[in-house]
Amino acid sequence: MKVVLAYSGGLDTSVIIRWLKEKFQAEVVAYTTNIGQPDNPENLKEKALQTGASAFYCEDLRDKFVSDYIIPALQADALYQEKYPLATSLSRPLIASGVVATARKEKADTVAHGCTGKGNDQVRFELAFRYLAPELKVMAPVREWEFHSREEEMEYARKHHIPVPTTKKKPYSIDWNLWGISIECGLLEDPWKEPPEDVFQITVSPDRAPRKGESIVVGFEKGVPVSINGRTRSPREIIEKLTEIGGRNAVGRIDLVEDRLVGIKSREVYEAPAAVILHTAHKELERLVMTRELFNFKLFLAPWYAQLIYYGQWFSDLRECLDGFIKESQKYVTGEVKLKLLRGHCLVAGRRSPFSVYEEKLATYSQGDIFDHSAARGFIQLFGLPALLEGQRCRRNRK
Ligand code: ARG
Repeated sequence: MKVVLAYSGGLDTSVIIRWLKEKFQAEVVAYTTNIGQPDNPENLKEKALQTGASAFYCEDLRDKFVSDYIIPALQADALYQEKYPLATSLSRPLIASGVVATARKEKADTVAHGCTGKGNDQVRFELAFRYLAPELKVMAPVREWEFHSREEEMEYARKHHIPVPTTKKKPYSIDWNLWGISIECGLLEDPWKEPPEDVFQITVSPDRAPRKGESIVVGFEKGVPVSINGRTRSPREIIEKLTEIGGRNAVGRIDLVEDRLVGIKSREVYEAPAAVILHTAHKELERLVMTRELFNFKLFLAPWYAQLIYYGQWFSDLRECLDGFIKESQKYVTGEVKLKLLRGHCLVAGRRSPFSVYEEKLATYSQGDIFDHSAARGFIQLFGLPALLEGQRCRRNRK
């Protein structure tokens, strides 16, 4: 058996390498990615090889993550259950596709991940493996192995000279990438408890943010962010910059009780300053340039698209078809949005576009009004005809 493992360098995936070798005499290839987490994963090579991996791969997928995953989700206005920008969910199919490509290169017959049996991520990995490589065998050792506690797992690690974390385990589980940070466990499991300041990694507390806040202008071209304050930047640079600016103004904290795929509710805390700012700005621009019908239809589509990402159906036909529609819907989403970031709030202050369908001469209540007021009478007469018929029926029946 030859296995490619989605490797993070943490205790679980380290123990998995050893465990697969011991139980199945497997050859294990460790695969990891840079998707914008704080520690450079290139540094994991030695650790992986020492733990028993036969080879180590590390790919910098940051730009691919932005162009192929984050931008489509942004253009779809995808927020799971109206709030979560899906940072963790979006990263799983990307990592899974790298694992599959590596399995093909290495002629491996099996792929593996280190997710537990209770979360969403196992589903996302395994659906992606099915979509992309139905011929590969999938293993989820953490779900299958004999350790009943972290202590037993640590004991096994010590016995096999796997470096175990010396500091006390952080009380939270943290997943971190370019698009945001997901934080769970510990005292956050009580949905009534306010998150203590030490859970937050990149945002300051609103009461410690500058009193005056900061104003910014974000520019878009066909639904893709292309500038901040008039300066052209790559989408990834914009995300990195907005993470910083939003973070210092306490923007991007999200506290959410959400429905997991496996049926339970869980309390999650997210930090996603760039996602909050870009979603706010992007949708605001859509309000200005889209026809009423298109905008309303997109409002209805967004939760479906978000759910599809959350459910791990990224590589489905449905997503590809929807992307065709969404891409087409973005052709006029070009322009700028002015925002005020103020102590945890992201407030829209202005918007403009060469493709705006806002007509001041029609909207105005002051001089220069070109709206034909006399046309309203006939419009209401016909639009209100069903209302009239309904009203008359009521009156008849009341007699
Ligand atoms: N609830 C989020 C999701 O399902 C975040 C999961 C966080 N994962 C983690 N390993 N900490 O996408």
